[in-house]
Amino acid sequence: MKGIILAGGAGSRLFPLTLVASKQLQPVYDKPMVYYPLTTLIESGIREFCLISTPQDLPRFRQLLGDGSAWGLSIEYREQPRPQGIAQAFLIADTFIGSDAVTLILGDNVFYGGDGFSRAFAEFKGGATIFGYHVNDPERYGVVEFDGNGQAISIQEKPRQPRSNYAVPGLYVYDNNVVAITRGLKPSARGELEITDVNVEYLRRGQLRVYRLGRGFAWLDAGTSSSLHEASAYVQTIEKRAGIKIGCPEEAAFHRGFLSLARLEALTAKMPNCEYRDYLAEVVAEAKRLGAVEAQGPAAGVETR
Ligand code: DAU
Repeated sequence: MKGIILAGGAGSRLFPLTLVASKQLQPVYDKPMVYYPLTTLIESGIREFCLISTPQDLPRFRQLLGDGSAWGLSIEYREQPRPQGIAQAFLIADTFIGSDAVTLILGDNVFYGGDGFSRAFAEFKGGATIFGYHVNDPERYGVVEFDGNGQAISIQEKPRQPRSNYAVPGLYVYDNNVVAITRGLKPSARGELEITDVNVEYLRRGQLRVYRLGRGFAWLDAGTSSSLHEASAYVQTIEKRAGIKIGCPEEAAFHRGFLSLARLEALTAKMPNCEYRDYLAEVVAEAKRLGAVEAQGPAAGVETR
């Protein structure tokens, strides 16, 4: 499965912040926004990425993430000259997708908690998988309606009168047919290739699976000044309370086995003195402690009375 991160658009709702750096490079508390969706996909087992952004912003993403090899990943870059729709990503990245299945994540969506995504990725066999998340203001999103058996029966983009409170978050999983389906789409009234139209087509074919993300799962989009601030406050609260970091690609790559302990340690040693480095140094130390316990045998480290 390949992964696309869509990080283009004008970012006009964040003006003047976005005059010099794109929305997805703005800080969400202690990291650039794009770290969060990237980490979500790494945690789901994705290792090959294509990041799509505007011609102006792409060089900064390259500067930030490079070719991904430092983290055991591969990252390619493609330009989207104008924001002509989320689904256009599949046409821009068609040679990257090749004959594989693909997941697309929006560069301004922050997810945290639960195992909803891992399960969905593990169970994915074909067709399309999307998610439903209960929100207060469904009219701002794609909205999915369920029947009494929990089956999705309709999806509408920003309906004036939503048929449910379940919004569709910006993470989508598709089989390889998504490229052909997108080629067959016509631009919507707002001139975009709509991701909702892709999902409606899979629904029509009887090939759409919708997982409801339960309580205990957080989905934040950071597209306006106040939602950006709220996302930062949320991340700060969890990080301070639990002593863990959300959206740390190095740690996720290590836990997924994409990055060895030795490479993570070397990477950490090269960082300037900062909280981020201290955190990764603690991840390394903890992994060494656990490794030492394992090497001593299963009973080592277990307290007995
Ligand atoms: O956040 C989830 C929602 O995202 C879904 O529920 C909707 O179905 C979906 O249409 C989308 O709605 P938005 O109104 O949030 O889409 P927006 O145009 O703001 O684009 C979302 C992100 O994708 C944004 O960070 C910019 C980027 N983007 C968007 C378009 C249309 C691009 O990079 N290129 C594009 O052409």
